[in-house]
Amino acid sequence: MDRIEQPKLKELISAGEIRNRVSELASEILHDIQGDELIVIGLLTGSFVFLADLIRKFCQHPSLLGIDFLTVSSYGSKMHSSDNVRIDHDIRIDIANKAVLLVDDILDTGQTLQAVVHHLRQKNPEKIRTCVMLDKSEARKVDITADYVGFKISNAFVVGYGLDYDNRFRELSYIATVS
Ligand code: IMP
Ligand code: MG
Repeated sequence: MDRIEQPKLKELISAGEIRNRVSELASEILHDIQGDELIVIGLLTGSFVFLADLIRKFCQHPSLLGIDFLTVSSYGSKMHSSDNVRIDHDIRIDIANKAVLLVDDILDTGQTLQAVVHHLRQKNPEKIRTCVMLDKSEARKVDITADYVGFKISNAFVVGYGLDYDNRFRELSYIATVS
């Protein structure tokens, strides 16, 4: 019988480090939004764990008006980014004249976030802030930075805390490199 291939994982960022950093990010964001009416938008699938932790730090905050998700085609099972970003499933919430916090798992080449920011701008939000858990700045192909970054990491493929390799390992509570 064929055994499922088991890639080697090496912990890069622990669950405790993630927890602390998410709290810090949430405080920074709440400080910056002041009285804005905020809509949080997550990019599926990778952002769902990070977003779930982050929004629970905004618990019952009067500024938080809603949460929605957007699906874009990205990696598939490959370890490199696609140059074309396609919106597969759009948000349903109205963001016109609202402040948006766009949340993703990782900023790699930057193409996904850039395309999604461009897409959301057509909906006339008052402002779009971007927040990513991880930033691989060495891999950047387009000129974009995130307003909030959890951790800057080197250019290695990582999994866990929502990030996958071939749809696996999203459930890890820590972030690991995979080889
Ligand atoms: P970008 O368009 O190249 O910035 O790619 C961003 C998307 O690629 C992220 O939302 C992730 O889904 C995926 N991605 C980039 N790097 C990694 C990685 O190291 N592990 C898992 N997914 C990644
Ligand atoms: Mg993604």
